[in-house]
Amino acid sequence: MEHVKRYHSLSLMVNNKELLVEGPITGSYLASLRFDEGLKAFRIPEQQHEALIEIADLPEGRIIIAREGDLVLGYVTFLHPDPLERWSQAQLPDLLELGAIEISHKVRAGGVGKKLLEVAFLDDAMEDYVIITTEYYWHWDLKGTGLDVWQYRKVMEKVMGSAGLSWMATDDPEICSHPANCLMTKIGKRVPPETVVAFDAMRFQNRFLY
Ligand SMILES: CC(C)(COP(=O)(O)OP(=O)(O)OC[C@H]1O[C@@H](n2cnc3c(N)ncnc32)[C@H](O)[C@@H]1OP(=O)(O)O)[C@@H](O)C(=O)NCCC(=O)NCCS
Repeated sequence: MEHVKRYHSLSLMVNNKELLVEGPITGSYLASLRFDEGLKAFRIPEQQHEALIEIADLPEGRIIIAREGDLVLGYVTFLHPDPLERWSQAQLPDLLELGAIEISHKVRAGGVGKKLLEVAFLDDAMEDYVIITTEYYWHWDLKGTGLDVWQYRKVMEKVMGSAGLSWMATDDPEICSHPANCLMTKIGKRVPPETVVAFDAMRFQNRFLY
């Protein structure tokens, strides 16, 4: 499968900062930008910057960023699922996982998360993919936001729902291990039925239990 990436951008104002939201971008372009110290939810910022540069250059990898000048203040990633996860079992070339979305605390709750997804889905190529995101409450910044798990789940539903991702059932043990965890999915208009069947088979692997 050829992974077509078409660049789009939009701007928005948050907390008196004029942000440009753009992507998919290349690794070398991302390497030329500074990475905000507030982007530390998943790794220390320097390591996360490096990880995103690598993802940007993967054939299927897509990185959308929000930046003020040359300072990156938010990002979202799309790439094939980790080989250790069940979502990679069928090796579907047209399945992408929204792996991480993070906004610096300097510009949170100002619409940047939703804008990142808006720009990501401006590329019509996204209609060729099943897009999934696995939401685990232990990845959420509960401490930093002061939200409880259900309030945070609501924020995630609003962010993901703004781009058309919706809740889907699965018997994945990690997702089922807490009721606030969930799988959210968007199936592109041009995704062939064989991919949907293979995806459904990955979602449910313990049918004998029911
Ligand atoms: C989750 C996260 C990406 C949201 O990004 P954001 O830019 O703050 O989200 P948005 O401003 O687009 O907000 C989306 C909706 O949630 C609401 N919201 C966002 N933060 C909120 C908060 N702390 N309290 C209440 N509502 C909140 C917004 O008001 C908006 O609601 P609306 O659609 O009714 O207008 C951001 O909080 C973050 O980076 N968290 C740390 C990393 C993380 O947990 N990532 C998710 C797992 S990969």
